[in-house]
Amino acid sequence: MSQREHFGSRFAVIAAMAGSAVGLGNIWRFPYILGENGGAAFILVYIAASLILVLPIFYAESIIGRRARSDTYGAMKKLAPGTHWHWVGLLTVISPLLLLSYYSVVGGWSVEYLFKSLSFSFTDVPAEEIPGFFGHFISSPWQPVLTHTAFMAMVTGIVLGGVKKGIEKFSKVAMPLLFVLILVIMVYSLTLPGAFKGVEYLVKPDFSRLTADACAAALGQAFFSLSLGVGTILTYSSYVKKEENLLVSGLGTAVSDLLFALIAAFAVMPAVFAAGIQPGGGPGLVFETLPFIFHKMGEGMPVVTTLISAVFFVAILAAALTSAISMLEVGVTFLADEKGMPRRRATLLLAFLCWAVGILCSLSFGPLADVKVLGLSFFDFLDGLCSDWLLPLGGLVFTLFVGWKLSKADVRDEFTNGGTVNVRLFGVVYFLMRFVAPVGILVVFATNLLM
Ligand code: PHE
Repeated sequence: MSQREHFGSRFAVIAAMAGSAVGLGNIWRFPYILGENGGAAFILVYIAASLILVLPIFYAESIIGRRARSDTYGAMKKLAPGTHWHWVGLLTVISPLLLLSYYSVVGGWSVEYLFKSLSFSFTDVPAEEIPGFFGHFISSPWQPVLTHTAFMAMVTGIVLGGVKKGIEKFSKVAMPLLFVLILVIMVYSLTLPGAFKGVEYLVKPDFSRLTADACAAALGQAFFSLSLGVGTILTYSSYVKKEENLLVSGLGTAVSDLLFALIAAFAVMPAVFAAGIQPGGGPGLVFETLPFIFHKMGEGMPVVTTLISAVFFVAILAAALTSAISMLEVGVTFLADEKGMPRRRATLLLAFLCWAVGILCSLSFGPLADVKVLGLSFFDFLDGLCSDWLLPLGGLVFTLFVGWKLSKADVRDEFTNGGTVNVRLFGVVYFLMRFVAPVGILVVFATNLLM
C-alpha cells in the first residue's frame, strides 16, 4: 500500500483533478445547456447547485478514495466488508461507458472542425455562412460517424499503447493554453456589435423560465462538469497524500471548473447574439459560434483565423481526450482486476461497444433523426440519462455512504487529517454530506419525475 504513487504537491492535485473536470463539459456543454434553459437564472441555480449539493459529493468521493486507497469497487469492499455497497462499483463502470459513447461523438466534431480550420474552410466564406456548416456536417450519414470513429480510435490507441503519460503531459500545456485562448476569445466576443444582448442574457435573470427541468439540468451539468458520480474523483483521491487539505483541493477544483465554464459562456453568448443564432439551438451552439468569432478576429488575415481556430481545436481535442481516456479506463481496470480479463481484450471490447452505441448517437442528428426514445433523439436521451440521472444517482450513493455508513469519527479523521485542519468547518461539511446533498438530489429527482 505504501508504494501507491502520490501527487507531488497541492498544485499537482488540483491540476490533475481540474484536468479531468475541464473538458467538453465547460466549453461545449455548459453554454448550450444554459442557452436551452433560459440564461442568467440558470447560471444562478448552477452556481448554487455546484457549491451546496455537488461540492459535498466531491468531498464524499475524496474521503472514500483517500481512506480506502482504491478504486470504487475495491473501496466499497474495503470500507464496508460483507455488505452490498460495492455493487455501486458497477454503476460507476456502466455510466462512464455510456458517457463515452456520446462524448466521443462530440470529440469527433472537434476533429472535423480542426480539419475545417486547417483547410481554410472558415476563411473562404463570409462569416455569416459559418454557423450553417454545422447542420450540414452533422446531418451527413457518414462524416460524423467517421470522425467519431477517429476519436474513438485515438482513445483506444492511447489506452492500449500506454502513451497516457504523454497525452497527459501534453494536456498540461494545452489546458492553460485553452484557458488563455478562451479568455482572449471572450474579450473579443464582447466587442462584437450586438454583443450587449448576449451579456444581458447572461446577467439578467428571468425566473419565469426556471422550470423543474432547468433545475435538473443545472444539477446534471454540475455533476458532468466536475466528473462526479462516476468514481473518477474517488479514484484520483486514492493517490492524494494524507497531509493534503481535502477542503482546499476540492474548492480549488470546483472554482477553477466554474470559472472556465463562465468564461466560456461569456465568450459564446455575446457572439451567439451577434451572429443572430438562437441561444437555445442545442448541442451545435459552440461549433456554430466559435468559428464565426475566429473569422471575425482574423478579418482580412486568413492566416490569423486559421491559426487561432487550429490551436483552439487542438487544445479542446486534448482536453476531450484526457477526459475520454479516464472514462474508458474505469471499465478496463474493472474487467482486468475483477474478472481477470487481459487489459488488451478489455480495452478493445469496451471501446467497440462504445463505438457502436456512439454511431446511433451520431446518426440521430441525420438519418435517425425521427427515431425517438421517450420523445428524445438518441443523443439527447443518452446525454439526459447520464447527466440528469446516472451521475446524480452515483453521487447520491457516495454521499449516503459517507454520511450514513462510515462512522462519523472515521469521516472526521479523514477530512480533518486526524484533527489538524478544517476542524471547525467539519460540522458544516458533514451536515451537507449527510442531509443537504442527499435531500437536494432526491427533491430534484422527484420533481423531475412528477412534472
Ligand atoms: N468533466 C468532464 C468534462 O467536463 C467530463 C467527465 C465526466 C469526465 C465524468 C470524466 C468523468 O468534459
